[in-house]
Amino acid sequence: MNKNTLETPQEEGLEPQVVVLRVSNMFVINYNYLVIDHINSTSIIVDPAWDLERIEQAIEVSNTTLKGVLLTHSHFDHLHLAKPLAEKHNCPIWMSQEEIAISGYDAPQLQPIDETPIWVESLKIVPLLTPGHTAGSMCYMIGNNLFSGDTLFIEGCGLCNDVKAAHHMYESLNKIKAYVNETTRIFPGHKYARSPGEQFATVLQNNIYLQFSNKEDFAAYRLRKGQNHAKFFEFY
Ligand SMILES: [Fe+2]
Repeated sequence: MNKNTLETPQEEGLEPQVVVLRVSNMFVINYNYLVIDHINSTSIIVDPAWDLERIEQAIEVSNTTLKGVLLTHSHFDHLHLAKPLAEKHNCPIWMSQEEIAISGYDAPQLQPIDETPIWVESLKIVPLLTPGHTAGSMCYMIGNNLFSGDTLFIEGCGLCNDVKAAHHMYESLNKIKAYVNETTRIFPGHKYARSPGEQFATVLQNNIYLQFSNKEDFAAYRLRKGQNHAKFFEFY
């Protein structure tokens, strides 16, 4: 039995609707996700950035109350609109305690989290600590959807600063492999050619970073020459 297969419907949580929002600021393009529980008319937003009007419009159209802001990590293009949204909707901002410690990020609504699941009405959010891109990066499993930030992309994985970080990334990708199902849909913070929402079975076949069997080879490949933050400009 997969670790993500739990015993009772109540423990599994609700299968939500995921609204994909492509937002941009100059050359930086991010994917935000509004995760909707239609039964309780509630929603949460993942990594909101760049376009407050668009996000507010999506919340309004969904006819839900925003109940929280989930942050995968502390880079500016992922938390840009967390504070104004949390303030307006009077809801928490969740980020890992490790990421808060390394970034110094602060907000009145900020709630440090560990891997204890968070329940928002019938919506179960399972945080997975996945260091590598940053030391406190988290992915979030909600229903059969993984919100993977800059840890796992459809065709790649997030940049790592050094060998130690790359080793952590290798372990984090293995943790994801062990946790998700073949049918889990992957929703990353950025994309290259393929669209967010692909099933993990397809990602597993096509993503070279999921093919390594030891952390040394993985780190050598992840840290190869020519891989730097200029890569951001290839996201679309
Ligand atoms: Fe990042």
